[in-house]
Amino acid sequence: MRTDKEEEFARPAQPPDATSWSAVREAAKDCEACHLHKRATQTVFGEGPKGATMMLVGEQPGDYEDVAGKPFVGPAGKIMDRALEEAGIDRSQVYVTNAVKHFKWEPRGKRRIHQKPNSREIAACRPWLEAEVRIVKPKLVVAMGATAAQTIFGPTFRVTRERGKVLSSKLAPRVLATVHPSSLLRQPDEASRQREYKLFVTDLRGALRAVSEE
Ligand code: URA
Repeated sequence: MRTDKEEEFARPAQPPDATSWSAVREAAKDCEACHLHKRATQTVFGEGPKGATMMLVGEQPGDYEDVAGKPFVGPAGKIMDRALEEAGIDRSQVYVTNAVKHFKWEPRGKRRIHQKPNSREIAACRPWLEAEVRIVKPKLVVAMGATAAQTIFGPTFRVTRERGKVLSSKLAPRVLATVHPSSLLRQPDEASRQREYKLFVTDLRGALRAVSEE
């Protein structure tokens, strides 16, 4: 059982000051900057071409990603892939990662239930994201959902107010925030699912435009 003390333990991760993506990814495998590594199967680092012009950032790996060791391969990844295709974005040309690199979960019976990472866990993991941005140097970072957006802009940032706009941040010069693809799966009915999906595709088209404009 997890204790409060373990939950509180977190210090910023210390990625090597390397220019090689593989060296940083290798170091991330042993990250113990917070307690999340204890329950997760493995670190799920970002993936994609090193010269990608666009970087998509989600919250944290889910159940499928934790097992596969790859970001966005489960249900949220499937809907994201469909939306990317519809927006004219080739996923293989995009770098995909998460704000937090370990799956945070609680047992419920035999199931592993996703838990939202807290601000200490997010802050502890942020240096890995900084290293990914430093190495990949994307023209645009797309923050998907509140966790990714608040990792970049701070806790008062609201995706609902700022979605679709190209903003600047300390992490990256150009960032566009949108909803998390899993929010599309949680819509109460088909009509709202379709409406939200279309808005997500619109944001992704805006991201593609922002990358192409420069
Ligand atoms: N949700 C995320 O935020 N990231 C993943 O990799 C999968 C689901």
